[in-house]
Amino acid sequence: MEHLPQRYRQLFPTLQTHTVLASCSQSALAEPVSRAIKDYHDSLLLMGTNWNEAIEKTESARNEFAKLIGAEPNEIAIVPSVSDVLVTVASSLSGFRKKHVVYTEMDFPAVSHVWQAQSDYTVSVIPVIDGGLHLKQYEKDITDETVLTCVPHVHYRDGFVQDVKAIAEMAKKKGSLLFVDAYQSAGHIPIDVKEWGVDMLAAGTRKYLLGIPGMAFLYVRKELADALKPKSSAWFGRNGFDAAYATGARRFQTGTPAFISVYAAALALSLLNHIGVSRIRDHVKTICSDARQYAAEKGLQLAAQAGRQPGLVAIRDERASETAALLKKKKVICAPWDTLLRLAPHFYNTKDELRHAIDEIAAVFSAR
Ligand SMILES: Cc1ncc(COP(=O)(O)O)c(C=O)c1O
Repeated sequence: MEHLPQRYRQLFPTLQTHTVLASCSQSALAEPVSRAIKDYHDSLLLMGTNWNEAIEKTESARNEFAKLIGAEPNEIAIVPSVSDVLVTVASSLSGFRKKHVVYTEMDFPAVSHVWQAQSDYTVSVIPVIDGGLHLKQYEKDITDETVLTCVPHVHYRDGFVQDVKAIAEMAKKKGSLLFVDAYQSAGHIPIDVKEWGVDMLAAGTRKYLLGIPGMAFLYVRKELADALKPKSSAWFGRNGFDAAYATGARRFQTGTPAFISVYAAALALSLLNHIGVSRIRDHVKTICSDARQYAAEKGLQLAAQAGRQPGLVAIRDERASETAALLKKKKVICAPWDTLLRLAPHFYNTKDELRHAIDEIAAVFSAR
């Protein structure tokens, strides 16, 4: 089971000196991704222009993300961040008569920020009950007046995983579109937008997708994309310099992509597709389940894990940021959020690294 880290760890220089367990925030940088970033920089520095190559890399990143989620390249838009995705999606729904949106208490705060700012819409927020989101509540809150239901595939705080296919079926039955925020799942949990019946899905590149900030992908089902007219759309969303919307999801684009992030993403996604996300899921699941058991033996309190296949170990800690800073001094990198210390491994991490982080956390707690 330690086959993946054995094979790929040498690609990540930081792992020789640090225990890096923060993929839910920023994954470790692979040497080939670092080289891709340098290629962009060097081509500008040494050759004066790299526009055509950068456009090719943008298409290559688009193709790789499409492959990762089972979509067609023309169904993928390249945008600066997931927050920007939400703004552009909201701007595309004004043609609908229905003005009710459903989202959940597990959505990342940006979701509520964007929908609360849309004064034309009423919203319903699906509550978290017993640490989870429940289909019965979706059934109740999605109505015939709901234009869009927004759900996270995986919760950013504790790793709760939702059954997207079941939610998609319910949304469809009620006539609502479904938007999935897959920022916490893409790269370590398999996604199949066609099989699940998802209308729109987004993920940024700096977490489990092994890239850097500045870029996100938006999938829009092709028949739907061609019917929508996003108000947040500009020349990268048009047919050349023409005013007509581009076909497919490209119409959701605005201006020049952050090419340096695009170079990183094209390489990183080809690496992930080469390894295969199912293998990554199996590995991460195994080492997380060992870590949860080990943490419990050490007397650490875990956040509720009502979800299936959790790939995150979230430890309760009122002083999480302070603990993370102490761990950083010991070269253990984790991702604090509020009152949780999140350990988020990827395919390059081992069971022993997670155990080492847990030992260090237990040592900090016992010194208090
Ligand atoms: C699930 C989820 N959605 C959205 C975001 C926000 O992404 P961005 O900063 O690209 O807008 C984050 C960032 O941490 C996230 O975890």
